[in-house]
Amino acid sequence: MLRDLEKVLINEEVLQKKVKELGEKISEDYKGKNLLMVSVLKGSIVFMADLMRAITEKCQIDFMSVSSYGSGVKTSGVVRILKDLDRPLEGYDLLIVEDILDSGLTLDYIISILKKRNPLSIKICTLLDKPARRKSNVRADYFGFDVPDEFVVGYGLDYDEKYRNLPFIGVLKPEIYKD
Ligand code: IMP
Ligand code: MG
Repeated sequence: MLRDLEKVLINEEVLQKKVKELGEKISEDYKGKNLLMVSVLKGSIVFMADLMRAITEKCQIDFMSVSSYGSGVKTSGVVRILKDLDRPLEGYDLLIVEDILDSGLTLDYIISILKKRNPLSIKICTLLDKPARRKSNVRADYFGFDVPDEFVVGYGLDYDEKYRNLPFIGVLKPEIYKD
């Protein structure tokens, strides 16, 4: 697996430090609130698992899974809900936890769906942000790192469903994309 990588972009230590910082900030901001962390499967699971343990206030978690219509690496913006949240959202302060904000079209769509369910508030926490590729007005309330316009993998993020188990964020060698 490591042989497929061109370079490590964000190493494990730097990642963990940032996740701790985000957890502290979120803990502070959500004091006295009814925090429900919503993880968008599957890319955000590793981040979610670390982030929730860095939060010192009470919180609950839930998961949703969406698939975008369109080819592998690009998003069309139209998403289909494959797995919905388990509960109604009234009374909750939602924090959507994402792996990466790319075009933003997926999150835009998810937010429009969740808003209709009348949560008390909705905020976004993304580990990575690729602002160069944004096609919507979505912006993250919390984010870890800006990344360049390169396809990154690891720490939950995949290429062709692989590399999610890398404990750091890396860039794949270009030849891996070719068939
Ligand atoms: P968006 O709708 O373009 O913002 O798409 C966001 C989703 O595309 C993310 O949740 C990822 O699943 C996927 N994605 C976008 N960029 C990358 C990348 O560099 N590596 C892995 N997955 C990515
Ligand atoms: Mg994702």
